[in-house]
Amino acid sequence: MKKKRLIILGSTGSIGTQTLEVVRRHRDRFAVAGLAANSRFDLLARQIAEFRPAMACAGEDHDRDGWQRAARRCGTVAAFGAGGLARLAALRGAGLVVNALVGAAGLEPTLAAVTAGHDVALANKETLVAGGELVMRAVRSKGVRLLPIDSEHAALHQCLDGRDPATVRRLILTASGGPFRTHPRHRLHAVRARHALRHPTWRMGQKVTIDSATLMNKGLEMIEAHHLFGVPPRRIAVVVHPESIVHSLVEFIDGSVLAQLSVPDMRLPIQYALTWPERLPSLVRQCDLAALGKLTFHAPDAGTFGCLRLAYRAIAAGGTLPAVMNAANEVAVAAFLEDRIGFLDIPRVIGRAMRTVRRPPLRGIGDIRAADAAARAHTNTLIGG
Ligand SMILES: NC(=O)c1ccc[n+]([C@@H]2O[C@H](COP(=O)([O-])OP(=O)(O)OC[C@H]3O[C@@H](n4cnc5c(N)ncnc54)[C@H](OP(=O)(O)O)[C@@H]3O)[C@@H](O)[C@H]2O)c1
Repeated sequence: MKKKRLIILGSTGSIGTQTLEVVRRHRDRFAVAGLAANSRFDLLARQIAEFRPAMACAGEDHDRDGWQRAARRCGTVAAFGAGGLARLAALRGAGLVVNALVGAAGLEPTLAAVTAGHDVALANKETLVAGGELVMRAVRSKGVRLLPIDSEHAALHQCLDGRDPATVRRLILTASGGPFRTHPRHRLHAVRARHALRHPTWRMGQKVTIDSATLMNKGLEMIEAHHLFGVPPRRIAVVVHPESIVHSLVEFIDGSVLAQLSVPDMRLPIQYALTWPERLPSLVRQCDLAALGKLTFHAPDAGTFGCLRLAYRAIAAGGTLPAVMNAANEVAVAAFLEDRIGFLDIPRVIGRAMRTVRRPPLRGIGDIRAADAAARAHTNTLIGG
């Protein structure tokens, strides 16, 4: 069997390293044609020594000579920074580009991959939040596939499985609720980054872990689901499900609801995106429902966790407002991780940025870049950074 040639952007992160575990499990199916990371250079160097990709890309700040020598020893072409990422994403002969970058930095590599005619397995939800309209237009015009890695969207993809979109009443995204789901508002004043980084069910990168604690993650996912599946935001609901066993649900017009369940392990949705439409054995543990005993669900507290409402507001306005919200969130989360703002300041700062940033209408990628840059500068001023 011909091996599928993968390009893995963000190979040193939580999703990237788990993607490489899936590749190791199915070496007969996959070859690694490209790897990219930013700052964890030693790990990237070990990955290129193991997988021998044709090309690899490191962040701008690296010792270029050292990086080029390390890559050359493995027969790998070395690239750098944003330009290198875009070239790698468009590399000729790739079978699938896995985008596991974090933040809006993922948008332009996704567009480069799609424009080059590559299918994309997307973990980087910020791609569709900041540039969903442009990306989906490019996906349609190039006739490529965008396969979701996010567990909720992988669940929806499996439940929809070619069914007539006209028969869908609602998409229901599940949320773990994060570590503070039962906290009353007054206790959230004292929350620090070290508390927020203790996620109850998932081990993830820092940014998505904080997004999960604020419920911004669910807001970003609602926008992602809207673009991926063409369902209007008012028909995308969120329900808190602390056990993280039901990954999302589709309600059909006859009242029937389909759900996808598994133990929380990202290697399952990653593998499904890599092998779709096939299903293969995986490294994931069996789901023992009798041992679990019960599964619980409740409505999210959108008053306390204000980010979810901001996301509905951003997608209702459309244009470049979702890109502004996304950039403001990235700046606010970075400031929270450095203890420069409190937990409850995150939605406050993003909301102010959304109301006050001067943003261009959406005509093309240049407007998203401009809105993103304006939002970052303005949010930094609001925070005093
Ligand atoms: N982790 C999860 O379980 C999970 C689940 C669902 C969805 N997601 C989504 O998947 C994406 C990745 O999340 P993650 O948790 O894997 O993040 P992460 O652990 O922080 O990893 C991010 C990766 O992106 C690289 N990177 C960051 N900025 C870059 C840049 N400017 N240029 C090149 N590489 C860059 C990092 O490189 P260095 O490490 O070398 O700096 C790292 O390899 C996010 O959009 C997240 O929301 C994650």
